[in-house]
Amino acid sequence: MGLFSKFTGKISHRAHERRAKKASERSKHRSSRAEYLLNEDTPFDVTEAFRNLKAALSVSVPKKDGGVAIMTTSAYPEDGKTTVTANLALMFAQSDAKVILVDADIRKGRIAKYFKQKSVPGLSDCLSGQNSLDEVIHHSHVNENLSYITCGTHSPKPYELLESEEMKNLIAELRTRYDYVIIDTPPILLLSDALALVPVTDGTVLVVRHQVSFVSDIERALNSLTFAKANVLGVVVNDFKAPKTNGYYGGYKKYYYYNSYAYGSTDPNEKDDEPTQN
Ligand SMILES: Nc1ncnc2c1ncn2[C@@H]1O[C@H](COP(=O)(O)OP(=O)(O)O)[C@@H](O)[C@H]1O
Ligand SMILES: [Mg+2]
Repeated sequence: MGLFSKFTGKISHRAHERRAKKASERSKHRSSRAEYLLNEDTPFDVTEAFRNLKAALSVSVPKKDGGVAIMTTSAYPEDGKTTVTANLALMFAQSDAKVILVDADIRKGRIAKYFKQKSVPGLSDCLSGQNSLDEVIHHSHVNENLSYITCGTHSPKPYELLESEEMKNLIAELRTRYDYVIIDTPPILLLSDALALVPVTDGTVLVVRHQVSFVSDIERALNSLTFAKANVLGVVVNDFKAPKTNGYYGGYKKYYYYNSYAYGSTDPNEKDDEPTQN
């Protein structure tokens, strides 16, 4: 497993402040979640971090005949999977590759919000035969090389949809049309949905959130991916905080995630270990 580490910085001070508020205000934070796409106002170091990530992935999974399919996941919600995935797709598109961003978080997908689009119809509707592939592909207004598929109608059986023959065919078709198929998935320690996509993708990127993700959870997520024979391309350390802000988020506990995602089957009383440090 060729592990690389890529760091993304803080994308906005507003988000920084929101994350720093008291635990009792967490529900308020969740209702004001934001979607950030890199633009000309984004600090240089953040853009550069994404550029480096894109470059590292380009060499990690060289293009063959068809397009390359890469999925991202993380241990828990709020690690920044969707933020990293959407911006990674944009980075590839800015380098003149034809890219499609696929929202495979059928339960709580948020890709649509990045493009001010409705989630329905989307991936699940295409997989269930309600809509054709062309009906669910949107061309983004952000970059002409970037298209996307939203998550679609809520389904009671997302895993089954994702591991279906229809999904295999859909990814195969997207590979013929695009250079990169970038897939956002749900948190791997809460749901097995992401594992259904291992066989149809070339590699997986694990997102962890600096000083928030716990080392033991990162290990469990990596074990889970390795057990499923995923080609783990590397780890992205999202929201990396410069040393002067050390410990700022250190008090946050793991249950923060459990409360914030309604998928949960995980035990919030489980013993915590240390969040990621520098
Ligand atoms: N590097 C970052 N800097 C600032 N805010 C971030 C960063 N990464 C994620 N966020 C914010 O954290 C929240 C959760 O991010 P999201 O990408 O939706 O996580 P996930 O997909 O893992 O649940 C969002 O409000 C997002 O804007
Ligand atoms: Mg997400």
